[in-house]
Amino acid sequence: MREVIKTVGLTKMYNGFPALEKLTLTIGPDVCVGFIGPNGAGKTTAIKILTSLIRSTSGEAYIDGIDIQREPKRALMDVGSVVEIPEFYPFLTPIETLTYLGKLRGMGKDYLNARIKEVLDTLRLEEWTGTMIGKFSKGMKQRLAIAQALLHEPIVLILDEPTSGLDPRGMVEVREIIQELKKEKRTIFMSSHLLYEAQEVCDYVAMVDKGRLLYYDKVDNIGKLMGPRRLEMRTAKPLTEPQLNFLRGCDGVTDVELVQPMVINMRFEGSDEKRADILSSIIGEGALVVSFKASGMELEDLYMRMIGGS
Ligand SMILES: Nc1ncnc2c1ncn2[C@@H]1O[C@H](COP(=O)(O)OP(=O)(O)O)[C@@H](O)[C@H]1O
Ligand SMILES: [Mg+2]
Repeated sequence: MREVIKTVGLTKMYNGFPALEKLTLTIGPDVCVGFIGPNGAGKTTAIKILTSLIRSTSGEAYIDGIDIQREPKRALMDVGSVVEIPEFYPFLTPIETLTYLGKLRGMGKDYLNARIKEVLDTLRLEEWTGTMIGKFSKGMKQRLAIAQALLHEPIVLILDEPTSGLDPRGMVEVREIIQELKKEKRTIFMSSHLLYEAQEVCDYVAMVDKGRLLYYDKVDNIGKLMGPRRLEMRTAKPLTEPQLNFLRGCDGVTDVELVQPMVINMRFEGSDEKRADILSSIIGEGALVVSFKASGMELEDLYMRMIGGS
């Protein structure tokens, strides 16, 4: 497998304190990896080494086999990144800003102009191309920062907490945009302190705490770690007794409980496909389902358990 991002024993010490300890991670092509951990876990430290903003104390980091610390310029040629809160000149417009940044990168005029239009469309800023950035919300600035990172069509995109500090709507917009970006051929490495965000957006999760990697696997495998899950179903009309009995008889479902007339809790063990089957069959039985989801608590419980053990 091609190793697009690779770190080997990456360590960063600050006054004898390890901010990052022996991080070894290999990321393949065209996947989105969530780098998850609480504040102070070492996420920004790792990302700063990967983007050559700081140097490691020991260990190596590579992009497509090129050593980032030996040949930063060549290694980062095909990398776009957003690290820390983006600051732009408030009196410039997105077009002016991107033109300036594209020229710095040495992009030719026609290619640059075409790319500016494309990235502003992708980042849903097409209506704001001529507005001064001083008037932008935090979410819009974050989107412009991602636009900037994508300007030269990098094959690797590195984002440090792209939704952090945004209002709920801004967070959803950025997540939706990342999901769109995943459809193109590109490796995305993004940090977050929200496990559910990684579960929603990413293909893989790398969990860190206190500078150490605790877990690195496909998002789909997190479910297996959690064992039986709690599912909550909300309906527009109370379920009838036969519908409730139908649920009780579904494979993998136990402890069906009516917590409110239109809220049913149950435990479920099985694959996501099986879960989808339950949803479609209960709808087939005439239930007016308005939502059907695994409760977030257990996911966060797992996270706390893993962090607690480190
Ligand atoms: N420049 C620095 N000097 C000293 N300690 C630092 C520095 N940068 C980060 N740290 C410490 O390293 C640890 C990891 O920080 P950081 O990588 O920013 O974590 P995260 O991004 O996961 O919140 C924290 O304990 C932080 O206080
Ligand atoms: Mg950070």
